Amino acid sequence: MELCAQQIAKWYHRRSDGANRFFAVKEMSFSACSGTLTVLTGRSGSGKTTLLHMLGTLLRPDQGKVLLDGRDLYSMDDRELSRFRNSRYGIIPQGYTAVRSLTVLENILLPVKMYGRGKDVLSGPDPAKQEAQRLLLRFGMADLSDEYPDRLSGGEQRRLAVARALAGKPPVILADEPTGDLDDENTACVMEELRKAADEGAIVVVVTHENDALSYADYSWRMNAGYLAAEN
Ligand SMILES: Nc1ncnc2c1ncn2[C@@H]1O[C@H](COP(=O)(O)OP(=O)(O)OP(=O)(O)O)[C@@H](O)[C@H]1O
Ligand SMILES: [Mg+2]
Repeated sequence: MELCAQQIAKWYHRRSDGANRFFAVKEMSFSACSGTLTVLTGRSGSGKTTLLHMLGTLLRPDQGKVLLDGRDLYSMDDRELSRFRNSRYGIIPQGYTAVRSLTVLENILLPVKMYGRGKDVLSGPDPAKQEAQRLLLRFGMADLSDEYPDRLSGGEQRRLAVARALAGKPPVILADEPTGDLDDENTACVMEELRKAADEGAIVVVVTHENDALSYADYSWRMNAGYLAAEN
């Protein structure tokens, strides 16, 4: 499988720029294959989240195409696109997005239950629950599975978002600063799980400020004021 962006760009009109366009992402091409982990770094405001959202079906580019396995994502209507996203993408957004009325375990299992994720890759009795519990144990949160998100620390909520994206074993994983609030030990656990997902065949793209993340990457890119440059 290949995730491929062809000459995409995103611009906004800013009050201070008058009629001029402000390019959050300047024309660029990007691709990532199954079994690889790509790290995306860059200063605040350089366009990382904008790029990730365009790759992740969440933001329509103003120019160019995004293809997953040759399928032109933004040629689909919204309904088709959200079905496509739910069946293929595990997205770890920047910020906190847990459903507050569900417990930690219920949050993790939500994409599996709603969209039937992981059926083809997980085995055993209630495999998704086992995978969710394995991830919680891995992230030092085994005793928090029945808690509600508003009783978790910031770092615990980040790990919950990571576990939710990974539990259904989606073929594409996009992570926006998944280790932002984490200490070194938890950062390593999260990066190891993202690496494991890539080794098992997923396309993994991680936005991060952590230089340590580069050691887990097959490829790394740096965003600079909307431009993308290869780091290695
Ligand atoms: N909806 C929007 N309307 C107008 N400008 C926007 C919008 N979203 C983002 N921008 C601008 O686009 C630029 C890139 O934003 P983006 O969120 O992609 O940055 P980032 O690299 O992810 O930053 P950070 O590291 O702080 O998360 C920023 O200057 C931001 O102000
Ligand atoms: Mg961002």
